Amino acid sequence: MRELALNVLDITENSLRAGAKLVRIALNIRFAEDRFSIDIEDDGCGMDEEMLARVTDPFTTTRTTRKVGMGLPLFRYSAESAGGSFSIQSQKGKGTRVHAEYCIGHIDRIPLGDFGGVVLQLITMNPAVDFCVEVRSEEGEGLLDTRQFREILGDVPFTEPEVRAFLREYIQENLVSIYGGRL
Ligand SMILES: Nc1ncnc2c1ncn2[C@@H]1O[C@H](COP(=O)(O)OP(=O)(O)OP(=O)(O)O)[C@@H](O)[C@H]1O
Ligand SMILES: [Mg+2]
Repeated sequence: MRELALNVLDITENSLRAGAKLVRIALNIRFAEDRFSIDIEDDGCGMDEEMLARVTDPFTTTRTTRKVGMGLPLFRYSAESAGGSFSIQSQKGKGTRVHAEYCIGHIDRIPLGDFGGVVLQLITMNPAVDFCVEVRSEEGEGLLDTRQFREILGDVPFTEPEVRAFLREYIQENLVSIYGGRL
């Protein structure tokens, strides 16, 4: 993939397919160490140990439409080929956590891309799921918890043009102050 943000979208789609009600997405940036990590954690159906062991192999999928699942292998590859690491933990009935770590300055590190756009898309397209998005670097931190927004907005959906415009700006302003165009 050309943007890590699209990997994030893809991995989060696994969580949604697993029936998650709450998805946490965390971006932790350490400019001083030239590293950052992405975590995606859900409270969906999880996987048993056997599935978990096979899951980063591209021929493992529970999809019936095609045989190859590429989401996790690609995400793993994006990290391991950029001087980073990848791990996944899951418990049947409890949920799943995927962690990827990157060396920011590595020549093969894929740009983060439109992370804010992906967050906006996820929260507006999935009204029945809550998202908690945390982004932090040495320069600041931002938190977006859809549970808090829903409390304030009541019945007004995130897709309402004014709400959507507000969210877009809120997300972009936060991201700019935390990592600017440096990822
Ligand atoms: N968060 C999760 N919760 C429960 N099961 C998961 C989760 N993520 C992945 N899985 C399981 O691992 C399999 C492989 O996931 P992966 O994203 O690699 O491929 P896929 O989703 O099947 O296909 P693709 O991502 O290419 O559309 C999934 O089919 C699903 O059974
Ligand atoms: Mg997938």
